Amino acid sequence: MDSIIVTGNGPLSGRIPIAGAKNACLTLMPATLLSDEPLTLTNAPRLSDIRTMTLLLQSLGAEVQGLQEGQVQAMSSHALTSTRAEYDIVRKMRASILVLGPLLARFGHAEVSLPGGCAIGARPVDLHLRALEAMGAELDLREGYVHAKVPSGGLRGGIVEFPFVSVGATENALMAATLAKGTTVLKNAAREPEIVDLAQCLRKMGAQIEGEGTDTIEIQGVDRLGGATHRVVTDRIELGTYMLAPAICGGEVELLGGTIDLVRAFCEKLDEAGISVEETTDGLRVSRKNGRVKAVDVITEPFPGFPTDLQAQMMALLCTAEGTSVLEEKIFENRFMHAPELMRMGAKIDVHGGTAKVTGVDSLKGAPVMATDLRASVSLILAGLAAEGETVVNRVYHLDRGYEQVVRKLQGVGARIERVRGE
Ligand code: EPZ
Repeated sequence: MDSIIVTGNGPLSGRIPIAGAKNACLTLMPATLLSDEPLTLTNAPRLSDIRTMTLLLQSLGAEVQGLQEGQVQAMSSHALTSTRAEYDIVRKMRASILVLGPLLARFGHAEVSLPGGCAIGARPVDLHLRALEAMGAELDLREGYVHAKVPSGGLRGGIVEFPFVSVGATENALMAATLAKGTTVLKNAAREPEIVDLAQCLRKMGAQIEGEGTDTIEIQGVDRLGGATHRVVTDRIELGTYMLAPAICGGEVELLGGTIDLVRAFCEKLDEAGISVEETTDGLRVSRKNGRVKAVDVITEPFPGFPTDLQAQMMALLCTAEGTSVLEEKIFENRFMHAPELMRMGAKIDVHGGTAKVTGVDSLKGAPVMATDLRASVSLILAGLAAEGETVVNRVYHLDRGYEQVVRKLQGVGARIERVRGE
C-alpha cells in the first residue's frame, strides 16, 4: 500500500487549482439514469470514487466515457440492461444508493444493495426509503437488498418531511420526484451547494424545480427528461482543505476557483483564528503572516453551518493554536478517528463522545500515522506540513477517493511531500 511522506518545510506560497466537487459529481452521474438522452458533465474530478460510480452505471448498461483525462464524463442511459446495483460495487461506496431514486422513477423497479456501515458512523438509509415510500414506492428489504417497485401509473407527488437534514436522502427524493405524477414538496431538505448544482442540472434536462438551496424544495413532475451538458460546481471541501495549508504552515496561497459563498461558515472560523481570507479575481487568497493561530470552538452542522467534512482538517490546525478549542461533531457519531493519530504527533486532544477538546501545543513532531477515512487522511497530511521532521501517512488509498493530485498540488506551493509506492 502506498504511503505519503511529509516533511515540515515552513511557509507556503503559490496557487492551487480547485477541482470539481466529488459530492456533486456523485449525485449528478446517477441523474443520467433519468433520461434516454446524453448527459455530459464537465469539470469532473478525477477520483477513485468517480471511477466506482462509472463502474456502477456501466454495470446497469449505461455508457460512461471519461474524456479529457476524465474531466468530462459523457454518459447515456438509452439502453440500460439492468436495474440491479450489486453488493460488490455498492459496498465500495455508499453514494451508490443514489441510483435507487432515478431507476425507480424511470423504470418503475430496482434492486439496490444496502450500503452497510462506514468508519465514521452507522449511516442508515431509512430516510431515503421513507421519502420514496411517500411517493408511492413499495419497498421490500431482503437479503441485503432494497427491492423496490411502483404501483401502475408510476411514482406520484407527495409531501416528504425529513425529520432531520440528510444530503443523500434529499438528492434521491429530488431526482425521483422529477418524473413523479404531480407535485412533490421536500420539507427540511438539505441546502448544500451540491444539491443546488443537482437541481440546476436537472432543470437543464427539463425538470421543474423551485426552492433548491432553501429548506423547502418543490418539484413538478414531468413525463420525461432530456439531455444536457453541465459544469460540476467547485469542490468546497477540497477548497477548505487547501485553505488550511497556509493557515497551518504560514505563508500565502491562492485557491483558484474558490468562492466565499461555498465556505462562509468556515471562513468565519478562520477569521476568528487570525487567518486572513481575501477574494481575488481568480479565487481566494489565504495568508498567515505572523503570530500564532488562535483557539476557536467549532460545531459541525448541515450547510450553511460548519461542514463536518472539514472538521478533521480544522482539528489539525487547532493542534498548534494558542489556547484550548472545543470541536463538537453533530453529524456523524464516530468522526474523531484522526485524534489518536494526531496525538501520536504530540497533539493534546481529549475526546468524549461527540466532543473533542484540543489544547494547543507549541509544535507537532513528525511520526508514522494511519489514515482511517478520507478526511482524516488529509488532516494528517496537513499536520505533517507543520510538524518538525518527517510524517509518514499510511493507507492513503482513502485519500484517492476525494483528492486528485494532492502531492503535486502541495509541491506546487513549496511543500516537501512525496508519495511512496507500496508493494
Ligand atoms: C453526504 O453524505 C456526503 N457524501 C458526506 O461526505 C458528508 O459528510 C455528508 O453528506 C454530510 O454533509 C456525499 O455527498 C457522497 P447525510 P450523506 O445523509 O448523504 C444520518 C465525504 O467526506 N442519516 O446528510 O450520506 C447519517 O447517518 C463524505 O466526502 C440517517 O440516519 O450524509 C448522518 O448521521 C463523508 N438516515 C446524518 O444523517 C438516512 O437515511 C447526515 O447524513 C440518511 C442519513
